[in-house]
Amino acid sequence: VKPPVIFSGIQPTGVPHLGNYLGALQQWVRLQNTAHPSTKLLYSIVDLHAITIPQDPERLRQWKRETLATLLAIGLDPNRSVLFYQSSVSAHSELMWILSCTASMGYLSRMTQWKSKLQLKDDASPLDEGSKSKLKLGLFSYPVLQAADILVHRATHVPVGEDQSQHLEFARECVTNFNHAYGPNLVAPQTIMSPAKRVMSLQDPHLKMSKSHSDPRSRILITDPPDVIHKKMMAALTDSTNSVSYDPENRPGVSNLLQLISHFNTEGKSAQELGLEYANFGLGQFKKAVAECISESLAPIRTKYEQVLAADGGRYLDHVWMQGAVKARESADATMEVVRKSVGL
Ligand code: ADP
Ligand code: NA
Repeated sequence: VKPPVIFSGIQPTGVPHLGNYLGALQQWVRLQNTAHPSTKLLYSIVDLHAITIPQDPERLRQWKRETLATLLAIGLDPNRSVLFYQSSVSAHSELMWILSCTASMGYLSRMTQWKSKLQLKDDASPLDEGSKSKLKLGLFSYPVLQAADILVHRATHVPVGEDQSQHLEFARECVTNFNHAYGPNLVAPQTIMSPAKRVMSLQDPHLKMSKSHSDPRSRILITDPPDVIHKKMMAALTDSTNSVSYDPENRPGVSNLLQLISHFNTEGKSAQELGLEYANFGLGQFKKAVAECISESLAPIRTKYEQVLAADGGRYLDHVWMQGAVKARESADATMEVVRKSVGL
């Protein structure tokens, strides 16, 4: 039996928020620190995915560095986990093309993320020619690239948030199609679902915390300094009952804050338990406590973030991704050798 291979990716879209951290990235660190030593771990900053929408080149370069610095800051160890930029391993794109030749258009067009990116409803009428010409092929076919990201490293396990499970299913579909055509050479990956509840927006507890919301007070970035966290927290939308209780149905704002601090609670207390602990706090006093808890938990991450960005006159990060690229290429090239041979290339 071959040892497990864990793969996951994050888009370089700036410093991650608490939703990204608790919903996805924290799981990467947990896997790194608990996996059997024979387990291979690869975590990619997927810059080729980022260009499915227009990007400013200078800003994209900056965001890639910030994202890499974040991965190191939260505790990923480049000597244990392979950290690399997707575009520095060209086999990802090559396998994408080969998979495209056996992947089904129909399956792709039914995927909900595609529909939501186009802002289509399930029952939308077909697009007219004008709207069609504005659509980019890459935005449509990026699940094939995502499948290639996973399959090129023969990943057996992929940790994701709940919104990604459909894409994993598509990756497995790609394996079935390819293996049917060329023999059993690709490995179907399993999903590791993140245990964390969705983190909700501080400005609207019915929406998930997201970088796409225009109000920056709706999210806390994991490098936000304490005064910024305090301000965002004091502005958080709660309700008019001036006490604390865990009641997601009737008090979604307050309950979201309780959920948040439960993720950071070192004694593993649940949101319910914390609700009882803070029951006699007024809302202002409670928000202040939440801000302090989050600031304290993020402080070491923030310190490490600044440290790795500046290390070796800024060259440390280059060293990390280049070293990661060498290891990732090795892993991808081994797969591509088999794939090319089976296809006849
Ligand atoms: P955003 O919604 O800010 O654009 P992404 O779609 O880039 O975030 O998500 C990156 C990862 O973070 C995904 O695996 C996703 O499941 C997770 N994630 C994003 N927002 C949240 C949230 N509010 N709560 C929990 N997990 C989240
Ligand atoms: Na998103």
